[in-house]
Amino acid sequence: MGLVLGIESSCDETAVALVDTDRVIHAQRIASQEAEHAPYGGVVPEIAARAHAERLAPMIEAVLRDAGTDLDRCDAIAATAGPGLIGGVMVGLVSAKALAMASGKPLLAINHLEGHALSPRLADPALEFPYLLLLVSGGHCQILSVEGLSRYRRLATTIDDALGEAFDKTAKILGLGYPGGPAVERLALTGDPRAVPLPRPLKRSPEPHFSFAGLKSAVLRAKESGQYRDADIAASFQQAAIECLCDRLRRAIEHGGAWPNLVVAGGVAANRAIRTALEKLAREHAMGFIAPPMALCTDNAAMIAWAGCERLALGQSDSLDFAARPRWPLDPDALPARGAGVKA
Ligand code: KG4
Ligand code: ZN
Repeated sequence: MGLVLGIESSCDETAVALVDTDRVIHAQRIASQEAEHAPYGGVVPEIAARAHAERLAPMIEAVLRDAGTDLDRCDAIAATAGPGLIGGVMVGLVSAKALAMASGKPLLAINHLEGHALSPRLADPALEFPYLLLLVSGGHCQILSVEGLSRYRRLATTIDDALGEAFDKTAKILGLGYPGGPAVERLALTGDPRAVPLPRPLKRSPEPHFSFAGLKSAVLRAKESGQYRDADIAASFQQAAIECLCDRLRRAIEHGGAWPNLVVAGGVAANRAIRTALEKLAREHAMGFIAPPMALCTDNAAMIAWAGCERLALGQSDSLDFAARPRWPLDPDALPARGAGVKA
């Protein structure tokens, strides 16, 4: 058994967890910065970095205390080293380096996206490689073939906005505040998903890429028209998003590859309507469907510690001069999607 301390600080959650290679989460704490960022309607990088710096050290102490252990009994220190808001990433990574140096334990510099991608294996010991992964978060919307540790084939990405971003912008347009995803999902429960005609960008296009910018603009026009109830806009937006996800995944599955399981991860995977639709899609293709528990979907440190466990088990570690990376694609060989803007 190996015990790994994990640190997450790439966006607006400060999180620390202790996880072992037998999939036991010994302790974890998470502090959201929602209140700090809410007045601005989105995450302010400077405020985020400062909040991580204030909270991280006491949180590490508290998690070790919760688990009744100390640094000496940990086998490695893992921290998100990118991609993300660089100030926050540096706070977490530098703290991990200091702990690794002081304790003489190995450092594991974790790709935040790999944390999300492997989180379903923390929850489900039966999930083996390869699997087809829909990774949907605030910054990413990708379909990946997960073939092993550090072995990803990106089959699709978004040519403009990530889906979580589209949820957050829809929430802003409807005056629901930040963070938007859960608020839109709640409001959608009371709305009619067929009430507002909204586009399904890229539906039936040959490559399985995503696009959500046009959908977001259509939500804005629907709101400005004054013709529709907010709940109907929320429900129709969510329905359009679900149809886009299912259409694009169907394309990826038909393109080829034999995956026993369809897996979803990332913050948007906490959405119940999306989970239900994906489960049905998997069944139609005779695939199993696996979604991590809600708390493992949104940003957390257990997934970072777990990615550390997986790498530790293979005898991997990183050097203390590992530099924080604002961008860090899982599949560096993936070609840019045609029509894509700056995001890859
Ligand atoms: O993975 P995550 O916590 O952070 C990133 O790495 O981006 O994802 C956050 C995103 C936000 O855009 C948030 O609005 C969205 O996930 N989200 C949801 C739900 N819960 C969180 N979107 C739709 N429905 C939800 N229930
Ligand atoms: Zn994330």
